Amino acid sequence: MSALDLIYQRSSCHVHEMEAPAPDSKKLKRIFQSVMSAPDHGNIKPWHIVVVGAEEVPSMCELMCEAWLQHAEHIEPARIRRLTNYLKASPMVVLVSANIVEPHAVSRRDQVLAVAAGCQNILLAAEQENVAAIWYSTDAAELTQVHELFGLTSKQEPVAFIMLGTKKLQDTKKNRSDVAEHCYRWVGNEQLEPLFKE
Ligand SMILES: Cc1cc2nc3c(=O)[nH]c(=O)nc-3n(C[C@H](O)[C@H](O)[C@H](O)COP(=O)(O)O)c2cc1C
Repeated sequence: MSALDLIYQRSSCHVHEMEAPAPDSKKLKRIFQSVMSAPDHGNIKPWHIVVVGAEEVPSMCELMCEAWLQHAEHIEPARIRRLTNYLKASPMVVLVSANIVEPHAVSRRDQVLAVAAGCQNILLAAEQENVAAIWYSTDAAELTQVHELFGLTSKQEPVAFIMLGTKKLQDTKKNRSDVAEHCYRWVGNEQLEPLFKE
């Protein structure tokens, strides 16, 4: 399969669509190595990856749930319980964070975006390795207590929770929409026209 076909066919697997085992150490290293070729403004290498293995996932989720319940605002306790219970079934939880270097000529935003590009590389490498993967929000990890639970310092900014496991179903192809509706040609001051015409 070409690299482009791999990108076109990549799709996420929700936690309920994956099962144990999580990728072994060799596979995991190959997957994470892909982060090293993400675009990196200033060659800062702001990558910071923390893995929670299957055995630790339930206790991590319980601690995260407790901290979230105690300190969260604008989110229903029932939703917190539902989300953290759902995550308990993950074969592996990966928290990818940006190790922010400040002050620096490269903005904090660019450093976070470099890590986000690294996260997409993880998803693509997982697809290549036939590993189930999905990117979930780090809303819970924005809380200081959850931040600390993962051993993060104040300079480290959570970017993605990525769940990894084995696909329950092999055929996960999705119909993707046509890119044409998102693309424009600039033809003059404030003037755009469709880039791809039928
Ligand atoms: C920054 C970011 C945060 C996301 N957070 C969640 C999330 O918390 N819950 C969720 O169901 N999907 C979340 N998603 C979307 C999934 O990762 C996934 O892309 C979506 O289910 C569509 O599947 P696909 O990747 O196969 O198109 C997030 C995606 C991104 C980029």
